[in-house]
Amino acid sequence: MKYVILVGVLGITFSLIGLSIVGSSTDEDTIYLRVAENQPYDYPTAQAIDYMGKQLQHYSKGQMQLKLYAGGQLGAEKDTVLANRLNAIDINRVSLSVFNNIEPVTTIPSLPFIFESEEHLHKVLDSEIGGEILQSLEPYGLVGLAFYDSGARSFYNIKKPIHTPRDMVGLKIRVQNTDVSVAMVKALGACPTPMGFGEVYEALVTGVIDGAENNLPSYRTTRHFEVAKHYTFDQHMMTPEILTVSKKVWDNLSSEQRDYIKMAARDSVIKMRDCWKKEVSSAQMELINSENKFVEGVDKSLFIEAMEPVYQKFANTPALIDLKRRIQSVR
Ligand code: GCU
Repeated sequence: MKYVILVGVLGITFSLIGLSIVGSSTDEDTIYLRVAENQPYDYPTAQAIDYMGKQLQHYSKGQMQLKLYAGGQLGAEKDTVLANRLNAIDINRVSLSVFNNIEPVTTIPSLPFIFESEEHLHKVLDSEIGGEILQSLEPYGLVGLAFYDSGARSFYNIKKPIHTPRDMVGLKIRVQNTDVSVAMVKALGACPTPMGFGEVYEALVTGVIDGAENNLPSYRTTRHFEVAKHYTFDQHMMTPEILTVSKKVWDNLSSEQRDYIKMAARDSVIKMRDCWKKEVSSAQMELINSENKFVEGVDKSLFIEAMEPVYQKFANTPALIDLKRRIQSVR
């Protein structure tokens, strides 16, 4: 069943599938919080949310529960972000890049090659810098709860192996709807085509695009590997995932209830990191033995050199330059 909720004042239409009402609901003793997730139920982020729900139930002695809508049931990321801001979805899990065009602070951890390794990324996210990035969303009606892993994004395409940026010239590459990704792909000489995650498979099949970029688990779960057989481990971006709560929902909870959510979210990060490692190695096992062609050991410095205009464009205020420097100096 499909319900269309018209948020008349703003003229925005949300198509929320399978929901009889939106926002949190309660029966006599229990608060149910609805969570949006665009990856499938067995993807690590969804598994982590599922675990968070169990922990929340445990801490609140059954008085708070999560109801997970995975697989993009509640819409594409740009729609769920808006719905979350307007209190129509309680908790949302999206790629941090979705906020790049809204809040400049979030562009810095989305910059290409800003993180040297997964360990570096975790250290930054677990430090006060991570806290600042989470807090940067408050003016937009969202409380940043936690970061989840998304590994490293790399390019893949239907046409040819990519060894250097020169191999990318002229390729039409799908990117997330963010100016950072558009600028990155342009700087590499390719043609960026922003579109929603859910539209990429068909665009590859019909030749609207030649390729895209994502982490290996997403390349597998979306089945893009069936169409775009050339995957290059250039690992250009390590933009994390983020979990946000609607500020209106948050403000209506008691401080005890907020603590339960914070504790459950923190527990879920540990679960997530474990699930992520397993997912990456299982994707590697399956795909490396497939007929796909993987390019490993590329000279990343060639890609990094091309990024100078991107850094200039987005690290463009003293505060953002400083944030970039602080991230890069975390050891
Ligand atoms: C990642 C992320 C998704 C996002 C997707 C994208 O895989 O998990 O939430 O939508 O990238 O490329 O848009």
